[in-house]
Amino acid sequence: MKSTVNQLMCSYYKANSKKGLYTAVGLSLLLFFNNLSAQNHTVAQRVDSLMKLMTLDEKIGQLNQYSSSWATGPVSPEGNKLQEIREGKVGSLLNVKGVDKTRAMQEIALQSRLRIPLLFGLDVIHGYKTIFPIPLAEAASWDMNAIETSARIAAVETAASGIHWTFAPMVDIARDARWGRVMEGAGEDTYLGCAIARTRVKGFQGKGLGATDAVMACVKHFAAYGAAIGGRDYNSVDMSDCSLWEVYLPPFKAALDAGAATFMNSFNDLNGIPATGNSYLQRDILKGKWGFQGFVVSDWGSIGEMIQHGYVKDQYEAAQAAISAGSDMDMESRCYNRNLKQLVRDGKVSVSLINDAARRILTKKFELGLFDDPFRFSISEREIQTIADTEHRIQARDVARKSIVLLKNENGLLPLAPSKKIALIGPLAKSKVDMLGFWNVEWPDNSDVISPFEGLEARVGKGNLLYAKGCDITDTSKVGFSEAVNVARKADVVILTVGEKRDMSGEAKSRSNIHLPGIQEELIKAIYTTGKPVIVLVNAGRPLIFNWTAEHVSSIVYTWWLGSEAGNAMADVLFGDYNPSGKLPMTFPASEGQIPIYYNYLNTGRPASDDGSFANYQSGYIDLAKSPRYPFGFGLSYTSFLYDGLKLSSEHMKSNEKIEVSFSLTNTGKYAGDEVVQLYFRDQVASVVRPVKELKDFQKIHLDSGEHKTVHFTIDKEKLSFYNRKLEWVAEPGQFDLMIGASSADIRLKSTFVLE
Ligand code: NOJ
Repeated sequence: MKSTVNQLMCSYYKANSKKGLYTAVGLSLLLFFNNLSAQNHTVAQRVDSLMKLMTLDEKIGQLNQYSSSWATGPVSPEGNKLQEIREGKVGSLLNVKGVDKTRAMQEIALQSRLRIPLLFGLDVIHGYKTIFPIPLAEAASWDMNAIETSARIAAVETAASGIHWTFAPMVDIARDARWGRVMEGAGEDTYLGCAIARTRVKGFQGKGLGATDAVMACVKHFAAYGAAIGGRDYNSVDMSDCSLWEVYLPPFKAALDAGAATFMNSFNDLNGIPATGNSYLQRDILKGKWGFQGFVVSDWGSIGEMIQHGYVKDQYEAAQAAISAGSDMDMESRCYNRNLKQLVRDGKVSVSLINDAARRILTKKFELGLFDDPFRFSISEREIQTIADTEHRIQARDVARKSIVLLKNENGLLPLAPSKKIALIGPLAKSKVDMLGFWNVEWPDNSDVISPFEGLEARVGKGNLLYAKGCDITDTSKVGFSEAVNVARKADVVILTVGEKRDMSGEAKSRSNIHLPGIQEELIKAIYTTGKPVIVLVNAGRPLIFNWTAEHVSSIVYTWWLGSEAGNAMADVLFGDYNPSGKLPMTFPASEGQIPIYYNYLNTGRPASDDGSFANYQSGYIDLAKSPRYPFGFGLSYTSFLYDGLKLSSEHMKSNEKIEVSFSLTNTGKYAGDEVVQLYFRDQVASVVRPVKELKDFQKIHLDSGEHKTVHFTIDKEKLSFYNRKLEWVAEPGQFDLMIGASSADIRLKSTFVLE
């Protein structure tokens, strides 16, 4: 038996003499077969050879993922995980970080009978060591090069630290700013969300699995997690098929088409069926219609949580439901390793389901090259060099400044002259950890994060920046106000940094009240009464509400959570070294009462006007205009842009034809700048009513002062299509409105055309 195992093993395992790990099976024999295995066999053949050797227990082991117990010692409260790894009962670990630790764990896995290497996964959501802006902020850049750079650098650092797999991108469309996880996605729009989903997968996976600077992407959370009722994390989702297919699923498909290696399912139920046990989502759509060949990991414990959902009675039924529905790997619920074998014995789960799941997981391990060298991602010298690469910080600063959105700038207060006496006031002025935002990889020391104070002081010179804290983020006491007011009085201009703590948006961080926390808006009022010009910087993980500030303060800059280079990026924008170009990827409500709020709503039979003039029996509120505080796609610049000369190559198109659209964009202001021009359509009459506006293309264009460019868009059938009642993707003949604007509410050019 042993020699058969050895021979068969050689056709899936490439020899590796490191640390004499394979001496047990005879290195010479392995070397002989090495050529055969690595070069002459396809991945599928190598997986087959391995699968032939595996017991049912070992196959189930591949489906099992644990969070590492390394930090708290080798023995977890629930048995000895290390021993289970040695016994081949674990296919993957999450939360193991760094070359030393991944190498140590891999060595343990290689003591198992078949020496199948572990996969290491981690939530690298917006950077590993170099922290980039939160994904929602990056989405505000509308800059695919910047977003790809961010994902690429995250992958390079992650892969150099021994990790094979990031649990990103999150592509959940979100229309409810109360939901804490809006910070982790690309906002409310499907078209923009698809572009970003593709870009981030490309960035993470680089030249493809197998490259030692690439990590597997994991597209999450499949599906519709962002539509949690009431914005309450983990809550149920109740949704029409049209919305599911048209609004929520396309970014997943876009990520899949970009080559995403893995998917993660979601905590929510969708119309009463938990996503983890949902065959329609995972088998019919993902692995069926879409032909996904990678594997699906459950979300943390979500297999077992189907008991609380009331979908299954116990862990035994949970395992059966999840594997049947297409969840391949069990993250941390232990339902698979405790029940799958018995389910097979009882004839409730067929071995072919387990074979399919194991095969999918092993395929990725082969594609990553882990059978050629299980330690190829765990090389200390590379880790040290990569993590210290200063170019990463330069890029992080650039992406951060591109993510900033200028919301208001009356009287041209910005950009600032550094010669002005500036006071920096507010609870976030000296914060480092809050600049990182939720889902940053934890490091013991955050001293290299640039706080707003450090960034601004570096620009105006040491000792030239006045400072007072004023209050804490969640304070209810105004004791610090008088000092802050005194400091403000000594300055020519005051910059106030307000917002959320790093753990106020993120997983399980839903808020019913999304106003500026604590008494921060009171602090702004106190400083405003000094009569000094005030600039407010809002650091947050979601759209916040700050109506008084929006109405009174002359300059407002939305700085989100910008990451390691936050302070420098803020200084770049405030002093005009970078002209802000960000545009909001989510609608900012004027009140929580308007939520869910999004630009691409349906008109209804009784539309209310946007200006708040309410006539009875209209679809509005009697106490509030239905229009948002800031619309989707909105963001100012220090310069101004003129849109004119709209031309359509034709006002009619057949479904196999295209219309070329062009217009002239001129920078009419004093500064060079970037403009995100946005193309929207409205299908005037359709068999399923269409939104008042839908983004269908955009471009980010750089123009020097006085420069102009002709901008081109193409209209084709795809851009005019939607899901009809039979869920067919169709473009129906009829008239369409074409709108080109600087935001969804600032339409500069209009026309109509007819699809014949
Ligand atoms: C739960 C989160 O929902 C998911 O996004 C994350 O990847 C896993 N935990 C692992 O940390």
